[in-house]
Amino acid sequence: MKANDPWRVGVLFSQTGVTAAVERTGLNGTLLAIGEINEAGGILDRPLEPIVYDPGSLPKIYRSLAERLLSSDRVKLIFGCYMSNSRKMTIPVVEAFRGLLFYPTAYEGFEYSPNCIYTGASPNQNSLQLARYLFEVYGNRFLMIGSNYVFPYESNRIITDLVVQSRGKVLDEIYVPLDAGTDDFTKTIRLIEKLKPDVIFSTVVGRATPLFYRAYHEAGFDPATMPIASLTTSEAEVADMPAAIAEGHITGAPFFETLGTPAATRFVQAYKARFGADAPVTACAEAAYFQVHLAARAMRRAGTDDPDRLMGEVREAEFDAPQGRVRIDRENNHAFLWPRVARLDAAGRFQTVWNPGVRVKPDPYCVVQSLDDWSADSLHQTRG
Ligand code: ACM
Repeated sequence: MKANDPWRVGVLFSQTGVTAAVERTGLNGTLLAIGEINEAGGILDRPLEPIVYDPGSLPKIYRSLAERLLSSDRVKLIFGCYMSNSRKMTIPVVEAFRGLLFYPTAYEGFEYSPNCIYTGASPNQNSLQLARYLFEVYGNRFLMIGSNYVFPYESNRIITDLVVQSRGKVLDEIYVPLDAGTDDFTKTIRLIEKLKPDVIFSTVVGRATPLFYRAYHEAGFDPATMPIASLTTSEAEVADMPAAIAEGHITGAPFFETLGTPAATRFVQAYKARFGADAPVTACAEAAYFQVHLAARAMRRAGTDDPDRLMGEVREAEFDAPQGRVRIDRENNHAFLWPRVARLDAAGRFQTVWNPGVRVKPDPYCVVQSLDDWSADSLHQTRG
């Protein structure tokens, strides 16, 4: 390698398939950070060069493209993945090649790989807070509806534990295909009519999301008394719904486009200047953005992209992200994050309804899974 050769890094976000809309925001966040780093002179005078592939929202294609990146393209670092089934296909390849995956998506927890840095929310950073908010404001009789794969199964298990802890009830739990069409929601709508839950907890992801919210709206249900609550319905899915269909529903996440802090505003403005005023900015985009900056800082300090030498610098690395100051926990490779809950307003924009200003230590195995102590481990939390 010559002195000014670029650092080649892999980028795996789907631009086609069921989760293309939100994954495009992850791609944008990644490319924005790479652009900023290169405009500021690169890393040790060498630019970052992204090698971008489109896995088409198909887990097996993630696996084969990860293999191509780590073998023929000879990259060490990969930024990407959205659905947990794609991450679970990618990690064994990354481990085999001793690479490093940076994963920017909220997920179900209960996982650790020494070759993965997790920068999206774990259940103790979104599910606990969302559940508490929902119990207080709407009630604790829940109906679960999810896409048919691992993130919904596991998220429902965790939320069920919390509902039971609050002496509430899960009335039913149903799954639709990842490529669900409108007809797939007919049974769900009938169940909602019959069971009249306080909350519909939805882990429907991607393209089916606006179809489900539309079916709910057309059935004449009222989000003021029975909202759809989600961890993944982001600005990207909402961009495919009229505002009247989105209004009143709830999402728990560490970042929303409307956050409005100086750091968040700077990020949103830079993103829209590059990708267009209408380009949605999501929690996935924000984590995709800050994880590249964290990696770059670690590479500068380590002087290499060799994961074995980089890891020591990534762990405990801090960065002023758009959501607030973040840090990677050396115990588990997950990020300390800032939980928030937001409700969609009449313009289809998220407005935070619960924003405690507390940074929460990641607890991906839910060791402390108590509703009364969602910000547990006060030694490690930071008030901001
Ligand atoms: C997800 O599958 N982690 C959204």
